[in-house]
Amino acid sequence: MSGSVITGWGTALPEKVVTNAEFEARLETTDTWIVERTGIHERRFGGTTSGLAVEAGAAAITMAGLAPSEIDLLILATTTPDKAIPATSSTVHAQLGCSGAAFDLNTACAGYVYATVVADAMLGAGIGFKRALVIGSETLSVITDMEDRATAVLFADGAGAVVFEHRDDAQPLILASDLGLDGSLLSILYCDHGGFMKMEGREVFRRAVRATVESALKVLDQAGVTADEIALFVPHQANQRIIDAMTQRLGIPQDRTAIVLDKTGNTSSASIPIALAAAADAGRLSDGDLILFSGFGAGMTWASAVVRWGQ
Ligand code: ACO
Repeated sequence: MSGSVITGWGTALPEKVVTNAEFEARLETTDTWIVERTGIHERRFGGTTSGLAVEAGAAAITMAGLAPSEIDLLILATTTPDKAIPATSSTVHAQLGCSGAAFDLNTACAGYVYATVVADAMLGAGIGFKRALVIGSETLSVITDMEDRATAVLFADGAGAVVFEHRDDAQPLILASDLGLDGSLLSILYCDHGGFMKMEGREVFRRAVRATVESALKVLDQAGVTADEIALFVPHQANQRIIDAMTQRLGIPQDRTAIVLDKTGNTSSASIPIALAAAADAGRLSDGDLILFSGFGAGMTWASAVVRWGQ
């Protein structure tokens, strides 16, 4: 038996806190509307995608007790790269001092779960990789129209990172996974080069609930576990009402669900690792616990996985 284990994690949030009151002061919106319709109270704006990724990645590597040069696979999930060329993972790789391979992966808010599944597969493939750093990092404030009340209040900046190490004596990290997308829904959420995100919010909401619930049920079934056996559900942090609809349909109570969006807003591919790290830091996870990840995003992509925490 061999598998990967999670040995470190870290997050980075910009210092600048933007409260709902700041939007209330300059857009036709209210704190009450934002809280009731999204669950978001505040979010963070600032930094660069590579800078936030380096901060989160360095914290994760330190927690794992590794030198950066011992990381031989770096996958950066992002929809907001610093530049078109080179990949932002190249900057992060250089600044952290990692070795081996690095690449960017863009499946929007499903990015972290996609990247985790890819990293685990590469570590287990016997092709020479031993330690992976998976980072979700975003600066969505750069591609958000701050004059558009329908999107300005939702999206934000941040990064989360996790170190995975392959061990010959470990159980498999991922019990089941489901990665997919429906390309016929490209137009409900997109951003042209140099432009701002355009979103049909109500349609994204409807599709997101359906896709993530179906995907989560599929991985639970494939893993041969029930919702009762999931110690922690870590959904993409887009909207509290989407999370509520998912938890109700999956039968997972809120006290077994990781929520950070009230303080972070929607940080796309960074949202799941930030929520995971917050739960782990709060002591909500024990060795052997099963975690259910479920994300969805532009594409429209979705990704779910049942993951074993600890040894
Ligand atoms: N303040 C006040 N009113 C607002 C605001 C605001 N900030 N934003 C929209 N409204 C108005 C709309 O203009 C509309 O007015 P109208 O009825 O006069 O036309 C009204 O509120 C209702 O609009 P809806 O879009 O129906 O509101 P809804 O309850 O669906 O909430 C929201 C909107 C929060 C965007 C919700 O649809 C949602 O969360 N959708 C999913 C978004 C999401 O998850 N996106 C991320 C995908 S992940 C990725 O890949 C980045």
